[in-house]
Amino acid sequence: MILYRAQVLDTPDDPFRGGALRHDADAGLLVAHGQIVERGPFTQVRSRHPGAEVVVLGDGMLLPGLVDTHVHFPQVRIIGALGMPLLEWLERCALPEESRLAGVTYARAVAAEFVTSLLAAGTTTALVFGSHFAAAVDELFAAAAGPGLRITSGLVVADRMLRPELHTTAQRGYDEGRALADRWHGRGRSRYAVTPRFALSSTDELLAACGQLHRDVPGSWFTSHLNENPIEISTVQQLFGDGSYLDCYDRHGLVGRSSVFAHNVHPTDAELKRLAQAGSSVAHCPTSNAALGSGLFPLNRHLAFGVPVALGCDVGAGTGFSLLKEALQAYLLQRLRDEQSVLLGPAHLLHLATVAGAEALGLRDEVGDLSVGRRFDAVWVRPVPGTPLDIGLRHADGPEDALAKVFTLATPHEVARVWIDGVPVEGSAG
Ligand code: GUN
Ligand code: ZN
Repeated sequence: MILYRAQVLDTPDDPFRGGALRHDADAGLLVAHGQIVERGPFTQVRSRHPGAEVVVLGDGMLLPGLVDTHVHFPQVRIIGALGMPLLEWLERCALPEESRLAGVTYARAVAAEFVTSLLAAGTTTALVFGSHFAAAVDELFAAAAGPGLRITSGLVVADRMLRPELHTTAQRGYDEGRALADRWHGRGRSRYAVTPRFALSSTDELLAACGQLHRDVPGSWFTSHLNENPIEISTVQQLFGDGSYLDCYDRHGLVGRSSVFAHNVHPTDAELKRLAQAGSSVAHCPTSNAALGSGLFPLNRHLAFGVPVALGCDVGAGTGFSLLKEALQAYLLQRLRDEQSVLLGPAHLLHLATVAGAEALGLRDEVGDLSVGRRFDAVWVRPVPGTPLDIGLRHADGPEDALAKVFTLATPHEVARVWIDGVPVEGSAG
């Protein structure tokens, strides 16, 4: 048993429904077998467990492990290609790099870089867009299994409009996906996600095979892109004819509680209504939406319809792995919307980066906050002495203000240590 002593901030009560930030200036978290078994004022927990080993996390704050609901494993090396809209960026940057993952040695190196980058940013749970190549997806699951990352991922499938080496067939996509799910789904913390790239690169036959695979692998997740860019949307409409973008997935049983759709920057009211009714979630990817000029995410309409929203860094269109930065960008974007804006406070940002992601991934009983009964997935944010974050935290006007400073100023350099399931991630012990 280890007793952690820290300033702890989390959001067990949804701030979008009036819940307040939970803050304990001097908390004791008792962790046994990876689970938080007791929480309270440090001195009280200490007196009940005088024999427990104490780990003091003196400066900064302890937060729940961050949960990323949309990030592309093959795109680590192409972050930062600015100035293009979605389809041009795919053509010129993303797809050529994705083709390189046909080489297993290349894929293995990228998988290692990807997992290291996620953990360095404090992300402990992620829904990951895999590769079009099954062997590369194996490399990803293997790389994630080392540190025990809570990963949900799968084979990305497409059968038109990309480039020949990235195309598959409905049957091959099903068979390869099934084999990957047999190897990885439910093994350790890995789970399988059925992942057509987007409707634009999928025929009905391929999406039907995705629906079949999703049904055949109980507990599997589903993820894809939705309503990201106006030209993408009109192309999907030309390809599929009647119906909305969401209908392309819905027709094949792919819109449900276990579905996470990335972006949804330009939804219709009918689509939002359907997403809410199905209990599907949306991964809001604000730095990507800005970098590709995709548009201004209508958070107000998602909230009004009751569509669950979480965060995704969307590397490599997104500008990095940090969900702290992603949350800040979500805030900044809302400031730039006029009457449609939603004013996000630090508690909202923390909720979006933790609990909301855990809910979208069906992992709320396990992670998302640092309550008794949860697994101990945590991030220690500790300011580097003399930096603006250090100065800001020393002069913070209460916990909300301190948290706002963390979202504004903290980078992966300030992620001093990360735990998954009670185990410190190697290399993170700063
Ligand atoms: N739509 C289809 N593929 C992609 C991708 O790789 N990134 C983003 N942002 N959108 C996509
Ligand atoms: Zn994406």
